Amino acid sequence: MPSTHNTGIRRIGVLTSGGDAPGMNAAIRAVVRAAAFHGIEVEGIFQGYTGLIAGDFKRLNERSVARILGRGGTILKSSRCRDFMEPEGRTRAMEQLRRHGVDALITIGGDGTFTGAHKLSEEHGLPVMGIPGSIDNDIFGTDHTIGFDTATNTVVDAVDKIRDTATSHNRLFFVEVMGRSSGFIALKAGIAAGAIAIILPEDEMSVDELIETLKASEESGKSSSIVIVAEGTRGGGAYALARQVTEKYSEYETRVSVLGHLQRGGAPSCYDRVIASRMGVSAVEGLIQGRKDCMIGIINDRETYTPLEDAISRDHLPNRDELRIARILSI
Ligand code: F6P
Repeated sequence: MPSTHNTGIRRIGVLTSGGDAPGMNAAIRAVVRAAAFHGIEVEGIFQGYTGLIAGDFKRLNERSVARILGRGGTILKSSRCRDFMEPEGRTRAMEQLRRHGVDALITIGGDGTFTGAHKLSEEHGLPVMGIPGSIDNDIFGTDHTIGFDTATNTVVDAVDKIRDTATSHNRLFFVEVMGRSSGFIALKAGIAAGAIAIILPEDEMSVDELIETLKASEESGKSSSIVIVAEGTRGGGAYALARQVTEKYSEYETRVSVLGHLQRGGAPSCYDRVIASRMGVSAVEGLIQGRKDCMIGIINDRETYTPLEDAISRDHLPNRDELRIARILSI
């Protein structure tokens, strides 16, 4: 039986926005089922903020979200919406929410999504709650964003395969992973796949230092190596770095592999399904308790609400000690 005291919310809107991430469907399912459990209706909003402005709404119930827990992508679809960045766009969105009788909004996405949600809340007083869904893991207020675990596992699987061919041909591979301004995927996958070097936007190793590392390992008998490069580093990612290295050091035959959007697809891992389920339920219950303009996260295995303003403005940075460990292990 529902035990949480409802402060008056009768209908919630839910949308996914920005880059999709495995586990977003699990979060949608959790939002819809938790709402139903507490006697609240849910409007699914399609295409993120684009659909919010256009009024692309559809009522969802507990059965509408059957068999989506293990599916990648987002059944609500997603977009990056320029109009919502302007006050006029947000006013039109608010009109749609009123027209559909929506009392509160849950947005699943990353920092761009939360910036829009925070403005909507400030300008129109709408209770909003963010759920962090992004493969990049670059959101303050949660240890892990939904999708990060699945994406890193995908990267590790791909790099293990690249290693087979790198070893067979004695080659040096530069593997580019996603993370425009965040090195979480590069760092975790780099450690798990045994990269010789990991190039992060937050801590870019110099070309000379990288060459020294490659030379030392080659002298100690390594015949092939893998460098993991986060996109956005070196002003051009893996291709730019490979060029800079080979201009000065040509001991290895070199190849570049850009993993790209395959990192965003696939069935969510167990971990992502669980955190998405937990966050989805707590997002609904937080709204019921009267929380607003905040994001649900999980820190040290406990559900935590962080003001959206902090989630947007404060940094979540990779653990530098993991970088040190990666360097020790790459000799
Ligand atoms: O969702 C985050 C992310 O995957 C980043 O890592 C990447 O830089 C960006 O999205 C790519 O966005 P798009 O799919 O719009 O090209």
